[in-house]
Amino acid sequence: MPTSKWFARSAATAATLLAVIITTGATSPAASLSDKLPGDTTRGRQVYERYCTQCHGPRGDGQGEVAAWTTPKPRDFRLGLFKFRSTPRGTLPSTADLDHTIRNGLYGTLMPPFYALNERARQDVISYVEKFSPRWRLEQPGTPVVVTDEPSATVESITRGRELFATNCASCHGDGTGNGPAAEGMVDMWRNPLWPANLTAGRTKSARTARDIYLRAATGLDGTPMPGFAGTLRPEGLWAIAHYIQALGPWEGSTRTLREFAAQLPPALPAASADTAAAPDTTTKTPVAVKVDSVVKVDTATKFVKTAAAVPVTRTADSAATGAAKPAATRARATIVVRMLGDAKGYRFEPASISARVGDVVRFVNVSGGPHSVAFLADGIPAGAAATLQKNMGKTMGPLSGALVTAPNAAYLVSLAGLPEGTYSYSCLPHQAMKMVGRIIVRP
Ligand code: HEC
Ligand code: HEC
Repeated sequence: MPTSKWFARSAATAATLLAVIITTGATSPAASLSDKLPGDTTRGRQVYERYCTQCHGPRGDGQGEVAAWTTPKPRDFRLGLFKFRSTPRGTLPSTADLDHTIRNGLYGTLMPPFYALNERARQDVISYVEKFSPRWRLEQPGTPVVVTDEPSATVESITRGRELFATNCASCHGDGTGNGPAAEGMVDMWRNPLWPANLTAGRTKSARTARDIYLRAATGLDGTPMPGFAGTLRPEGLWAIAHYIQALGPWEGSTRTLREFAAQLPPALPAASADTAAAPDTTTKTPVAVKVDSVVKVDTATKFVKTAAAVPVTRTADSAATGAAKPAATRARATIVVRMLGDAKGYRFEPASISARVGDVVRFVNVSGGPHSVAFLADGIPAGAAATLQKNMGKTMGPLSGALVTAPNAAYLVSLAGLPEGTYSYSCLPHQAMKMVGRIIVRP
């Protein structure tokens, strides 16, 4: 916990920074940036070194000089994980999303609003920030989730929103102040303490309006346990929740009548405590997020298993050439389990190196410290293997880059069917910087 002295010091630093920023030739805040124009990374680096290094660090690892005494910590850009997106959970944000954060800052944190940076400078610094994580080379930003036209908030929609809030949000957000049973001991994926936002204050880090709340709920916050609800709630439901939250505090667009109406409703407590009461031990470690994610994962896995089974187990030309005596068809396809871990001993795949045969399946299981992923390195696989490997992977986020595995015990499957023999090197994208790497030696 930062002491009040630290707090005063960091506030002073932020004030100094702001003063510097504001006096460096302000230009009018421009319209949102488009995803089309790439910035100039040389100029972006200059902007970054002047305005961002002290917090985000020269290497983008979030270890700037200010980092030591602030909570939340400046973001480590090497993992390519962003909380405030218009794009689905687990995908990269759009340029406009990053621009929104840079222009407006993150309320209540040390991340300042950069009103002084003109459009060009913001575009350039975004392109530079994108160089810190390999995800930007391998993936495209996600497709923004659909935000339907905002219906008007009514007594009925707020009543409905309260019910949906109880079922979907209260395990963490409690009565709205962030006191849900799952909040205790919560950490983010950088292992820093984290609290569910207080939704009664009328403003959060990146949300001021019902539309902002809708987007946060639909897309979730990557790097935190908060799931995205775009797959589980319909737009009407998301709007109802957004309007209920809006009526909990002085949010932009909230009306006094609806606030008074919401105030006399009983607080939305975790629904019948079905999840939490049944398994009290797991409340802090496996919040609702897990359930939602595992539904998604099961889906992916099932779909994938079908694909994998459909791939005929054929002997490759290579294996014939090397004279492998045993025909592949007579051998049962093996499933090899590789565990994905992040704990006091560090981030790692266990075992980090496996030997497998063409046609086997590798099952990567998220044991701890997730989200993890399996991303093959384009120059770390045998020549000519890429197209088949891409087809053999479960859901991907980009070329040879598997989807994030978020839920504990969720698995990600890679089939080795039809692959040329050789060594296949891979890494966990979020933890690549922490040397979470592995390899599969494929034999005929
Ligand atoms: C005074 C410290 C400070 C400075 C200076 C600063 N940031 Fe930040 N920034 C933060 C903190 C703290 C966070 C993390 C907030 C959180 O996770 O809740 C953050 C988060 C971010 C994020 C992540 C947003 C998301 O969706 O997760 C981006 C992008 C970002 N900063 C860009 C920049 C850029 C670009 C600059 C320079 C133009 C900059 N920051 C300067 C403190 C700073
Ligand atoms: C598993 C726990 C969990 C659940 C379930 C959850 N949240 Fe959150 N939520 C969090 C945490 C943790 C934060 C704070 C993240 C941060 O500040 O980095 C947060 C932050 C927020 C924010 C503030 C974002 C910002 O701008 O700072 C909003 C809005 C929000 N949640 C809405 C919802 C809604 C609506 C639901 C239900 C549909 C929901 N949350 C369900 C954990 C959860």
